[in-house]
Amino acid sequence: MTTQDYDWNSRSPEVQADQIAAYDEMRAKCPVAHDEYMGYSLFKNEDIQFALAHPEIFSNAVSTRHIAVPNGMDRPEHTPFRAINDKYFTDERLAEFEPKIRRVVRQLVEELPRGEEVEIMEDFAKLYAMRVTNAFMGWPDSVEKPLLDWMEKNRLATLKRDREEMGKIALEFDGYIRELLDARREAPADQDVTAELLHDTVKLDGAEARTMTDEEIVSLIRNWTVGELSTISAIVGVIVNFFGENPEEADRLRKAPEYIGHAVEEILRLQDPLVTNRRVTTQEVEVGGRTIPAGCPVTINWTSANRDEDAFEDAHTYKPERSQKNNLTYGAGIHVCPGAPLARLELRILVEELLAGTSSIKVRSTENAQFPVAGYSSVKAVIR
Ligand code: HEM
Repeated sequence: MTTQDYDWNSRSPEVQADQIAAYDEMRAKCPVAHDEYMGYSLFKNEDIQFALAHPEIFSNAVSTRHIAVPNGMDRPEHTPFRAINDKYFTDERLAEFEPKIRRVVRQLVEELPRGEEVEIMEDFAKLYAMRVTNAFMGWPDSVEKPLLDWMEKNRLATLKRDREEMGKIALEFDGYIRELLDARREAPADQDVTAELLHDTVKLDGAEARTMTDEEIVSLIRNWTVGELSTISAIVGVIVNFFGENPEEADRLRKAPEYIGHAVEEILRLQDPLVTNRRVTTQEVEVGGRTIPAGCPVTINWTSANRDEDAFEDAHTYKPERSQKNNLTYGAGIHVCPGAPLARLELRILVEELLAGTSSIKVRSTENAQFPVAGYSSVKAVIR
């Protein structure tokens, strides 16, 4: 196939310069669009809901080279690994964790310099995401710097699509996590989440229950941390910018913090912190009036799904009171985000503390992030 045969180029500088505008345009122009990098991209909310409701046609087993626990798995293998995920994000566990999140964000808000320009992404958003992850996993502060550096290297290699470099970087991550596992081999399950994962068991069809292999635990932890670090840091930047642009809404929420939860859902809908996830078709399928052959890569575009005019009235306007019935920020179906309760808690507390600890947020400049990252690569703000 030559480039002329494709419907678009998801890697073009125009798309990278403003992902949201580009996906809005594609949704109107070519709602199921084929290109070299993403395969068939689905842009319409309805088409994406169809794909999510049919995991037997839109398989998550997109890579034969690497395991991805649980996101790269289909049923029945997915089910026991998914059950392990779900047990870590219950209301009881999160209620216990809440004070730690508040401590982390309160300290970061207090430390934000007042009245001078601050780079929110580096000095606030990434640190918040990293520190909450560390606290959740039970990791020491010393992993903060290597993991932040690792995130940046991973982002650059993914952007360049440098497979060899991505492989090397993945191994580096494995090394850090294996060290953290080694330090806990003899530890009781209740020491911390990382130790508990070493004791968890899976029971696959027809086999005895067993503990997870190191490879499975490392993959699961990668799914949690990489997912959390990139999405949470992206959305923190988006939220700060949102309050910079909408000071009256910041003041309303300062006075009525009980509405913060709704506000956060709506901010995420408008600027989704996760751009895409992948699938592969197991059979020929018609979606959005187009036939996708069997064995083809498919990309679910969450950013576009949440801004679809057919799924949300006045879709591009901030309306925190609206119904979020079609909101796909956290996905849907069997792969729906297990970490959503933690993400919602982190973001509610972040906004509560940020608004309570400041009287004004002025944003001087932003730079859009490039795929695969959403939101901004830079948000320069003056906080008072
Ligand atoms: C604002 C933050 C977050 C957003 C927007 C988000 C979004 C999503 C979405 C859309 C999916 C579905 C993927 C698919 O269908 O292929 C997903 C899956 C997943 N998320 Fe999140 N997520 C967030 C935070 C988190 C956190 C904090 C964790 C864990 C600590 C987490 C762990 C996972 C895992 C393990 C999966 C795979 C589930 C499966 O395949 O069964 N996410 N997330």
